[in-house]
Amino acid sequence: MRILNFGSLNYDYVYSLPHIVTLGETIASTKMEIFCGGKGLNQSIALAKAGANVYHAGMVGEDGQELCSVLAENGVDIQHVKQIDGKSGHAIIQVEESGQNSIVLFGGSNRRITKDYIDAILSQFEKGDYLLLQNEVNLVDYLIEQAYEKGLKIILNPSPYDQQLEKCDFNKIDTFLLNEVEGYQVTGKTEPEEILNEMLKKYPKASVVLTLGDKGARYGQSEKRYRQSSFKVDVVDTTAAGDTFTGFYLAEIMRGHEVQEALELAAKASAIAVGRAGAANSIPKLEELEA
Ligand code: RIB
Repeated sequence: MRILNFGSLNYDYVYSLPHIVTLGETIASTKMEIFCGGKGLNQSIALAKAGANVYHAGMVGEDGQELCSVLAENGVDIQHVKQIDGKSGHAIIQVEESGQNSIVLFGGSNRRITKDYIDAILSQFEKGDYLLLQNEVNLVDYLIEQAYEKGLKIILNPSPYDQQLEKCDFNKIDTFLLNEVEGYQVTGKTEPEEILNEMLKKYPKASVVLTLGDKGARYGQSEKRYRQSSFKVDVVDTTAAGDTFTGFYLAEIMRGHEVQEALELAAKASAIAVGRAGAANSIPKLEELEA
């Protein structure tokens, strides 16, 4: 069983600040670092570090060599990543002293995916394989349609939530992994229990994993409900915590482990990630969790 992650690759320009800049304000940052990130790249690296056999697909620009190298160095298969002219995607990330962040995205090559490229890649995967998607590339609706036709199991992290997702047929999703904000955007509900119930009412065949930051995570599928607490750590930078959770959760499920085990492993991995600066580089290896 293989997993194809069709997703974004970004350079993250991370500015450390006393607080996130407000409207009309100018403040000096105390530090600026450049990391490899993007929800797609982070989730592929989390899957690989958690022991999964992961293939990444997506587009980088002329400046994309380092994004490809970091995936390959971490054990991700990059044969389907395509380099095109123009700029790769990037993110401007402000991280305040509490570790919370705010992100501005520039899509670059992530938004130049074509139907021909999607068709060529999906033709190499088959029924039973997994397809993981986030919402930082274009044509997510087409990816869902085509993958569903082929019998792939589709996992969606609807992040960041925007109008593009309203064109997608969510009835074709096998598993949603989302946070409270995205949960509200999909369901209009604010309480975790209500979000889960509404998601499962709208999409009764799906499994739903709702991440709640330091309040842990909830899982729902049909009548089943599970809760997972978070592991307490000193927060340095929350960037990629959700991506780490997604990768470790899916890797454990693909190994045939129970949902509760997958939730616990994912919560441990994301706790380690928030204790470190950066995106992909903050994701721990499975051995670190076992130690
Ligand atoms: O989820 C974190 C990621 O979101 C960052 O790495 C940034 O690139 C944005 O895509």
